[in-house]
Amino acid sequence: MDFIHVQGGVALKGKVRIQGSKNAALPILAATLLTKETSCIYNCPRIADVHHMVSLLRSLGLQVCWEEQGIRVNSTDICRGELPTEAVKGMRSSLCLLGALIGRCGEVRMEYPGGCMIGKRPIDLHIRALREMGVDFWEEQGMLYAKADNLHGAEIMLPFPSVGATENIVMAAVMAEGCTVLSRAAREPEVEALCRYLAACGACIEGIGTGTLTIRGGRELYGTSYRVPEDRIVAGTYLFAAAITGGCVFLERAPFSQMEAVIHVAEQMGAQCDVTPKGIYVQAKERPKSVPLIRTAPYPGFPTDLQSMALAAMTKGRGVCVIEEKIFENRFRVVEPLRQMGADIQIMNAGSVKVRGVEKLYGTCLEAKELRGGAALLLAALSAEGESVLTGCSYIYRGYENICKDLRELGARVASV
Ligand code: EPZ
Repeated sequence: MDFIHVQGGVALKGKVRIQGSKNAALPILAATLLTKETSCIYNCPRIADVHHMVSLLRSLGLQVCWEEQGIRVNSTDICRGELPTEAVKGMRSSLCLLGALIGRCGEVRMEYPGGCMIGKRPIDLHIRALREMGVDFWEEQGMLYAKADNLHGAEIMLPFPSVGATENIVMAAVMAEGCTVLSRAAREPEVEALCRYLAACGACIEGIGTGTLTIRGGRELYGTSYRVPEDRIVAGTYLFAAAITGGCVFLERAPFSQMEAVIHVAEQMGAQCDVTPKGIYVQAKERPKSVPLIRTAPYPGFPTDLQSMALAAMTKGRGVCVIEEKIFENRFRVVEPLRQMGADIQIMNAGSVKVRGVEKLYGTCLEAKELRGGAALLLAALSAEGESVLTGCSYIYRGYENICKDLRELGARVASV
């Protein structure tokens, strides 16, 4: 099913239930390695990246099975700290196994995790920090090796609040001897969820949800049950789908407390967002107002993962919008296909674009080249006049559980083939 056919021009109406968070589920599943008991992780989305993580854990010797409500992981036996190269290649999120394997096995052998279309995705911050904890790294024939004979706590200051580096440091630190103080830690809700899972396993972590984490390691961790929070990026995707089509959508279970910056941008677009304990009710204008400036930033700023969706919505805006991408160096790849649909977008420099809203976009053939850019092109197709055919949809299915079914239930004319 790598094609999606869209007949655009329908204002979305109805309710969509938001799935569990991909970027919380992945590090938490990796962290199940850190206990020798059984953990049950509920509300995991049934998406390609999670299935891939399950395969990686099984390749390490863990017993992993999907159950009705979630994923049960028994980590008593682990065969080795060596990740199958073909499994890691091209999947950046396998990187979160680095810290867990160092913590559990004291060594790792893995292919350099793939970068992707949004940038080179280096791992220098991970390596620099883990070296301070006593981990040796070296490279042989393109493979990354890590070994820690004496994994110990350290005082670490990240130069940038990297989500993945924070997660790897935390997972190593809970197993290290002594105390780790991590400053300029990422504060994303997915990092908080990982810390809360580890605390539920018995880890001692102070400052959860803040930019300074103090981890007292060396404790035996026990299995537990944990429910993954809903996915704020998926919720934001459907929010901007409502904005671009002028629709009325209820985002059931949307994690609104994690979406302040997103809701603020939507309201600047003229959408009315009513937050209730059950979710967010979004009523959008027929055509969004242009937001003068949208700038991505580490949490709690506007998330980079929703930048492409906001850009798509702004192609239909009344006025001019400048979008600045401050997290990744190559996250404007959707500009060209959006231009082919009739959008008026000027690249100002590598990190910013100026969007003059137009009355109409026109359906055409589109190709997804990465996860969030692909979702943004789908949103543009929903709003465009006429038919669009989107290829490369496997990228989109890596992060969205039932996006075509969800959109159809909101009235969109969408068919996946
Ligand atoms: C996580 O990626 C998410 N992925 C990304 O979501 C998200 O966009 C990103 O955090 C930012 O919020 C997962 O959680 C699986 P970073 P991560 O380390 O950890 C640079 C999606 O669509 N950097 O915070 O890779 C890096 O190049 C994905 O779900 C270094 O320079 O992000 C980037 O410019 C896309 N050296 C910036 O920091 C390093 O060692 C942010 O990276 C690490 C990162």
